[in-house]
Amino acid sequence: MTLEPVKGMRDFYPDELYKRNWLFDHFKKTSNIFGFEEYEACVLEHEDLYIRKAGDEITRQLYNFSDKGNRRLSLRPEITPSLARMILKKNINNSLPIRWFTIGQCFRYEKMQTGRKREHYQWNMDIVGEKSLNAESELISAIINLLTTLGLSRKEFIIKVNSRKLLNDFLLKYNISDKDFERYCILIDKIDKIGEDEFKKSLLSEGIGIEIINEIISFIKIKNICEIENFLDKSSSGGFSEILNFFELAKDYSILDCIQFDASIVRGLSYYTGMIFEVYDSKNEYRAIAGGGRYDKLFSLFGGTEIPMVGFGMGDIVISEILNDKNLFPEYNQKKNILVFAYSEKEKNMSIKITDRLRNIGKNVILDLSYKKLDKIISYTNKRGYKEIIIVAPEELKRNQVLIKNMYDRTERNINLDDFFNC
Ligand code: HAM
Repeated sequence: MTLEPVKGMRDFYPDELYKRNWLFDHFKKTSNIFGFEEYEACVLEHEDLYIRKAGDEITRQLYNFSDKGNRRLSLRPEITPSLARMILKKNINNSLPIRWFTIGQCFRYEKMQTGRKREHYQWNMDIVGEKSLNAESELISAIINLLTTLGLSRKEFIIKVNSRKLLNDFLLKYNISDKDFERYCILIDKIDKIGEDEFKKSLLSEGIGIEIINEIISFIKIKNICEIENFLDKSSSGGFSEILNFFELAKDYSILDCIQFDASIVRGLSYYTGMIFEVYDSKNEYRAIAGGGRYDKLFSLFGGTEIPMVGFGMGDIVISEILNDKNLFPEYNQKKNILVFAYSEKEKNMSIKITDRLRNIGKNVILDLSYKKLDKIISYTNKRGYKEIIIVAPEELKRNQVLIKNMYDRTERNINLDDFFNC
C-alpha cells in the first residue's frame, strides 16, 4: 500500500491547514464586508449538471462514475452549476438580487502542473439578479480588497477584463453564428496553451478561411480599447459601449489602476455571456489567480427563465503559491499553548485541577502525565514551540506553589496556588 495520497490530491498537515484556514478567514472577511451571505452546495452532483454542448474542457475532466443505484454522478469540478441549481430549486425570484459566497472543494481530472492540481478549494462570490455593471464592479472590488488585505500591493496583480459581447459582435461580421460562438470561445481560450499554429489548424478544420483566422488572431491581441472599434461593424450589439461604461464605473470605484482591457481573455467555460475577467500576478509568473464573469443564460440551460448572474472563483492553490513565495503567510506557531507537567503520579490530581482551571478561563493547555524526566519535557516543549511549562513538583507543592517556566525569555517564577485558583 502506498502512503502517498491519490495523484493530484492533498493532505493538509497542521502547519499547512493553519495557512489554509488563515486564507479562508480572509475570504470570509472580504465576503462579509461586501454583504455576501454564505451558502454550501453538494460536493457530489448529477453528472448532467455539467454536460454542455459547446465541449467545455471541464466536462472532459469530470471525476464521474455510476453509483450503486446506477445514477451517473460526478464530483463537482466547479460550484457555479450547483449555485444555479439551488437558486432554481428554491424559486427565490422575489428576493433578488442576492449576494452569496462559498468556499468549497472542486475536483478536475487535469494534467498536473504548477498551479493546477486535481483538487482545489475555490472561493466563489456570485450576485444573482443584478443586470447593471455595478455587480461586476462590486466583485472586482472585492477581489482587490482580498488581495490587498492578504498583503499584496495593487501593483503586484492585474485584473484583465473583456466582454464576450464584443467578441460576438466581431465574429458575427464573419457570419460565425451565435450557435457556434461558445465553441469558438473555448478554442480561443486555448490559444496560449496550444499555440497559434494549432489554433489555426483547428479553425481551418472548422471550415474558417485563413484571412478570417488571421483577423481573429489580430483581434484577440488588442490591449487598447480604442483599437477595438476599427474591428467592429456599426450594427454591433453593445459590447463596445459595455466595456466603455465599465471603465467609467471603474473610475468611480477607484479601481482603474488594477484593471486592464485584454481581448484575449475569453474564459474556457461556455456559459459566460457578458463581461469576463481574470486575475493575474503582474509579472505573469503564475497561473490565473481567479476568473469570472457574467452568465445570464445558465438558468435557461437548466430549464428556468433567464436571470442575470455574475460571479467569480478564486482557487486556493495559485494564491497560496504567491503568498508562500512572498513570505506573506503568518508564521505557524503554537505560542498560545501551555504545558502542565506532573512530576510524578503523586502530583497528578493537582495537575488535572490546574489544567481544568486554565482551560475554564480559555487557555490552550496540554496536560502531560507521562512522568518523564524534566529535561526531556523541556526539550519537547521547546520543539513544539509552546509558550510555558507549569511544573507541578513535590518541593513546590509543599510550599503550596508551582513553577512556571517561560520558554521564550527563559524566565521562571513561582506562583502561589491560592492566588492561582482565586484569580
Ligand atoms: P475557473 O476559471 O475554471 O472558473 O476557476 C476559477 C479559479 O479556480 C481559477 O482561476 C483557479 O484559481 C482555480 N482553479 C481552477 N481549476 C484549478 C485546478 N485544477 N487547480 C488549481 N486551481 C484551479 C470557474 O470555476 C467558475 N465557475 C468561476 C465562476 C463563479 N464564474 C462565475 N461564478
